[in-house]
Formats: sequence, C-alpha cells, structure tokens
Amino acid sequence: MRSLFVLVTLTTGAFAQMGAVGLFGILMKKLDNSPQGQCHQLSLFTNIIDLANNPKVVDALTGGDPSKAQMSQALVSILNAQMDPIKANKATVDNCQPTIATDNEVTDCLESQAVTQLNNILANQTAVDAMTKSNPQNVDMLKKLSAALDDKAKAVKANATESGFCDSTVDVRCIGQKIMTQFVKLASDDAALNAHFANNATQVQQFKDGAAKAQTRLDEQRKDEKLTGVCGKMPNILPIDIGSVTLDDLPSGMGIGMGMGM
Ligand SMILES: *[C@@H]1O[C@H](CO)[C@@H](O)[C@H](O)[C@H]1NC(C)=O
Ligand SMILES: *[C@@H]1O[C@H](CO)[C@@H](O)[C@H](O)[C@H]1NC(C)=O
Ligand SMILES: *[C@@H]1O[C@H](CO)[C@@H](O)[C@H](O)[C@H]1NC(C)=O
Repeated sequence: MRSLFVLVTLTTGAFAQMGAVGLFGILMKKLDNSPQGQCHQLSLFTNIIDLANNPKVVDALTGGDPSKAQMSQALVSILNAQMDPIKANKATVDNCQPTIATDNEVTDCLESQAVTQLNNILANQTAVDAMTKSNPQNVDMLKKLSAALDDKAKAVKANATESGFCDSTVDVRCIGQKIMTQFVKLASDDAALNAHFANNATQVQQFKDGAAKAQTRLDEQRKDEKLTGVCGKMPNILPIDIGSVTLDDLPSGMGIGMGMGM
C-alpha cells in the first residue's frame, strides 16, 4: 500500500505528511461499488498486491524490517478479502477486462514516471537532502525503490506505443489535482469546519492555510497547458469518488496534518 502512495506523494510532493494509513482508511471507507468502481478495485488492489509481493519493493520500503514486511502481508489479506466477492461473479470479472487493461497501462505509466522522478531527485543533492531530511535510511529507500521498479520503467520506455500513451494521457499530478480540489472545497464550508474541529479556531485555520497552499499549487499547475491537456484525457483508475469525501471521512488529526504538510 505504502508504495503506491509513496509514489504519489513523491511525485506530487503535496501530501507527504498525510500518512499512508490515513489515506488507506479513506480509500476503504469510500470504495465505489458501482460496476466500474468494482473493476477499478480489482485492478488497483491487484497492482498493489504485486508491489507488496515484490521482494525488492518490500525491502526498499521496509528497510529490511520484518515487522513492517508483515504489515504488507496483512495488507495483502485485507485487499484479497475485499476482492474475493467481486471475483466470485464471473460476469463482473469478464465485463471488467477492458477497464482492467486500461488501468494496468496507466499504472505502468505511473510507475515508470515515478522512476524517472526518483532518478531526477537522486541526481540532485539539494533535492535529495530536502526530501530525505538528509537521513541516510531515507536516501537508501529512494535508491532501492528506483532500482526495484527499474525493469518496469525500462519496459514501458522501450515500447513506443505505451510510452506515447503515457506521455499524452498520464501524470500523477492529475490525481493530486483531484485531491487538492476536494481539499479546497472542504475548506470553504465554515459551518462544516467548525463542527468537524469542534469550534477550535486554530485547527480550522490550519486546515484553511493548507487549502490555500493547495489552491496556489493548483493555480500554478493549471498554467501548464501540456499538463492540463494530459489531465483532461487521463483515464480514472481510482475505486473511490474523491469528490464525495467529506471532512468526517478524514481520520482524526488528518486535517491538521494536511494543513501543516502542504
Ligand atoms: C535541484 O533541486 C532543487 C530543490 O528541489 C531545485 O531548486 C534545483 O533547481 C534542482 N537543480 C537542478 C539542476 O535541477
Ligand atoms: C506495447 O504496448 C502495447 C500497449 O500496451 C501492447 O499492446 C503491445 O503488445 C506492446 N508491444 C510489445 C512488443 O511489448
Ligand atoms: C485547539 O487545537 C490546538 C492545536 O491542535 C490545540 O493546541 C489547542 O489546545 C486546542 N484548543 C482548544 C481550546 O481545545
């Protein structure tokens, strides 16, 4: 699990403080169980399980810590349990094949782009220091993660059809934009904020400050015409409707984390 959100957070840089656990909590609470949403569950969860079962990825993300590696297996069990009833319906699985094929291509693109991003960061000491807070373990994680995903990245780049598709229709920042857009929307409802934070003005303000930074980032990104074009075309791969996430769906403390982390 962490891997996917590490990829997302590394490349957006926006939600580094949110914590993968909080995101996972939202994901599981807001699952879209429509026919299309079920297809996205199958593809996303299978791709996460593949990463969680990839020894190089696990080693990169856990630093060889067996208790953390156990957590990734616990995650595999949860995701399998979620998929089992969907998979039990053969018609659903058959109908999902085109969506799953697209989702897998998009996921390959995201992994390949993440490797490029990681390598760009690793080539720039200032960026490495900023991202890892100069912690050698974190640096090691970035290097190992890049190496673990390198085969996939090379395969994508070697295939002109696939790399063309990736360049024109996939960018992880498009997913970040959906999240930031919803964040800004949540921050605009004073009554809901006061209720959620029990009228604690400090916490409300922190949330709003975070949303203001998200808005600035969105405004900057929207000036980038190529990115805007890509985001207009990018197929959805998420099995949740981000636009339906409310303040009360956020794990406690998360709003503050979001506010400070932006
Ligand atoms: C290196 O990273 C820093 C911090 O992210 C950035 O400001 C700088 O432009 C980068 N340098 C190069 C050569 O990309
Ligand atoms: C290249 O990618 C396309 C689209 O994903 C796929 O259909 C095709 O089989 C791939 N070609 C090779 C040689 O792997
Ligand atoms: C409001 O939240 C802040 C930050 O979490 C906390 O330090 C403060 O004690 C809270 N104030 C009240 C009145 O609960």
